[in-house]
Amino acid sequence: METKNQEEEEQLVTPWEVSAEKGGKIDYDKLIDKFGCQRLDQSLVDRVARLTGRPPHVFLRRGVFFAHRDFSDILDAYERGQKFYLYTGRGPSSEALHLGHLVPFMFTKYLQDAFKVPLVIQLTDDEKCMWKNLTVEESQRLARENAKDIIACGFDISRTFIFSDFDYVGGSFYKNMVKIAKCVTYNKVVGIFGFSGEDHIGKVSFPPVQAAPSFPSSFPHIFSSKDDLRCLIPCAIDQDPYFRMTRDVAPRIGYHKPALIESSFFPALQGETGKMSASDPNSAIYVTDSGKDIKNKINKYAFSGGQDSVENHRKYGANLEVDIPIKYLGFFLEDDAELEHIRKEYGTGRMLTGEVKKRLIEVLTELVERHRRARAAVTEEMVDAFMAVRPLPNMFN
Ligand code: TRP
Repeated sequence: METKNQEEEEQLVTPWEVSAEKGGKIDYDKLIDKFGCQRLDQSLVDRVARLTGRPPHVFLRRGVFFAHRDFSDILDAYERGQKFYLYTGRGPSSEALHLGHLVPFMFTKYLQDAFKVPLVIQLTDDEKCMWKNLTVEESQRLARENAKDIIACGFDISRTFIFSDFDYVGGSFYKNMVKIAKCVTYNKVVGIFGFSGEDHIGKVSFPPVQAAPSFPSSFPHIFSSKDDLRCLIPCAIDQDPYFRMTRDVAPRIGYHKPALIESSFFPALQGETGKMSASDPNSAIYVTDSGKDIKNKINKYAFSGGQDSVENHRKYGANLEVDIPIKYLGFFLEDDAELEHIRKEYGTGRMLTGEVKKRLIEVLTELVERHRRARAAVTEEMVDAFMAVRPLPNMFN
């Protein structure tokens, strides 16, 4: 038996909890080893660029998406002319999304455009109802509100189906859930997810709900007679346990294993060592933050790797490894040359923290404003249209 103390000191990554080893940051290499996924190397990034005929997304170039499972198989098949579909999702636990929530959706939008493939987006209102102790009605309301933010990321309605579990689960989807559930023992879910005897059985029975969209037969209105279609799942690496389970089950029920492309986490303003606290609004930038909020949060809370006096800063330069403004620019400043320039000037102390923060405030304000405008243009009718159970006739064109 591990003692409580040991548990706290080790890095912990589950779909519900992410914490680094005491005093350190998340060790992604260790995570790849522990989960048994593959590193996404430069040759794969180059291959994506070649196959899609467009420059790789910033998140690929900068290693934000850094791990995968069988992504190369997806590309092999694509090269032979076999398409695939994308599957991602969101647990609607809060009204407003923060920047970290946008990362998988921005990336999925790029993949959809670059490969010209259909996409299903699962809103796990049931999951959040069970884990966050929300009422059924409140989780459903949040799912619909979150759908607007997701639509605002620019998905193509002719290739995208968004569904909420409470509304959609049933029929063929439910049949797949039952097939999956029959292949997973109680001991197995305990091993993968760490459930205890105190957890209610809703939690224990949930994983097949998140697994089912990995199989095209769960969506007969879109993929009828396409049972052989492969699935690629872009997600943050904390979702890996769900899909480890799914991949384990897939061949036993006659389906392809879904492939995955997995991202690191978006760090809190307080730094990668700090604990991301959902209840602390000052630990993240939200898409609902005003320009003033953004400026204030960055200036006040963004952990700086700069030195404590200008004199020392000029002398020693900034520690880019721990600097949050540099981390954030790495996600959202698209211009590679400018980023490189800032890293160099800041790292050698010629540029000060205040100047780097100023640039970051510009970049984020523009991003958030663009998102806000796009979201304001999303009508209730559009949400209904994206969520309508319907065929997607031109999904591969
Ligand atoms: N469980 C995820 C969350 O809490 C939501 C989700 C469902 C998801 N299906 C997914 C995320 C597929 C990524 C890929 O946010």
